[in-house]
Amino acid sequence: MGEKILYKVKIRTEQKTYPVLLGKKVLNNVGRIISSYLPACRTLLVSDKNVAAHYGEMCMESLRKRGFQPFLEVLEGGEKEKSLATASALYSSALEAGLDRSAIIIALGGGVIGDLAGFVAATYLRGVPCVQLPTTLLAMVDSSVGGKVAVNHPLGKNLIGAFYQPALVVADQSTLITLPEREFNAGLSELIKYGIIRDKTLFEKLELSLFAGKNFSPKKYFLESNSTRLLKYIIRAVIIKGEIVSQDEREKDLRRILNFGHTFGHALEAGTGFRYYLHGEAVACGMAMAARLAVLLGILEPPFGQRIIALLKRLHVPPPPGGLNLNDVTEALFYDKKKEGDGLVFILPTALGQTTAFKAPPAPLIERVIEEYLDGGLL
Ligand SMILES: NC(=O)c1ccc[n+]([C@@H]2O[C@H](COP(=O)([O-])OP(=O)(O)OC[C@H]3O[C@@H](n4cnc5c(N)ncnc54)[C@H](O)[C@@H]3O)[C@@H](O)[C@H]2O)c1
Repeated sequence: MGEKILYKVKIRTEQKTYPVLLGKKVLNNVGRIISSYLPACRTLLVSDKNVAAHYGEMCMESLRKRGFQPFLEVLEGGEKEKSLATASALYSSALEAGLDRSAIIIALGGGVIGDLAGFVAATYLRGVPCVQLPTTLLAMVDSSVGGKVAVNHPLGKNLIGAFYQPALVVADQSTLITLPEREFNAGLSELIKYGIIRDKTLFEKLELSLFAGKNFSPKKYFLESNSTRLLKYIIRAVIIKGEIVSQDEREKDLRRILNFGHTFGHALEAGTGFRYYLHGEAVACGMAMAARLAVLLGILEPPFGQRIIALLKRLHVPPPPGGLNLNDVTEALFYDKKKEGDGLVFILPTALGQTTAFKAPPAPLIERVIEEYLDGGLL
């Protein structure tokens, strides 16, 4: 049965207005969909080996059918691919394939492929259109929309990049069926984030969904039914992200609320050498810690803090690794901020759907929250 619901969300920024199309079982028609927005041309389709194995040939065939001349570049995948070396290899592939300024670059994959291919599109021949085909939940609700593209530098993540909006985003929820469960839950954490920072109703709907049963697998619950529940949540997240990005494309102010959970989360990732947590998992821990800090500061009523933490517990984030201690996490927390040249600023919830930027909370409270997390008392 071919369900092909296609919703369209328009993202309006100073740089560009573009559509995000969302549906189920739409990827096999991606050539037709793209051709209604961009003329057929030479195309570099960038993917990683896991994603290409499932969807690479399907996209290639669909593109060919509509007169595109696609060249598939399959990368190993993983965070290490977000490098200038891989970007340079992609420039070579694009040049060898004869891509000129009328060409497009398509990212088929999660946030790693999206950030990397987006960066290449932003810089190749001073910029060619980029189409994002996100295949992880995280990429659908977050990284494929908003135009932040980047590669990593040996001194830190995402340090070399640009704000470069895509020409089009096509998200097919059906691709999530092959996504590993742990990755699915990590993406769900970013979805919950939108509820906490901006949309109490979304938060409450996610509560109803995620408390629907015992011994519960969110992935099974959302994907093994014919319902459009998850798709609607993804659409809501994209709408919220679009609203935020359209007001603050270059992250000078409002867009920072999207970093909710990221201050603690990034310190956990850095403190474990980026090898233990998936990004979304670290963000889930960071959001729980931020909620607890807000309660300790007296800016969030304890029942709200408890609800936020209870919901995040449903994601089954792995426990803190044994070797990680308070010192590792605080060092990573403060190192990060020194680099940015400002004091510690936390995005903290003040109610469900509302946040504030809180400058320099007292160090003993920050340490208490980290210790509670490390002792297993939070998530
Ligand atoms: N640009 C932004 O605004 C933004 C926002 C958030 C995160 N990010 C970046 O996103 C990256 C993380 O993205 P991610 O979590 O999507 O990770 P990812 O791209 O590494 O994908 C996760 C894993 O899932 C596999 N995979 C992806 N889709 C699949 C599918 N449908 N079926 C089977 N396997 C599949 C991939 O091969 C990979 O092994 C980080 O580099 C982070 O910095 C960027």
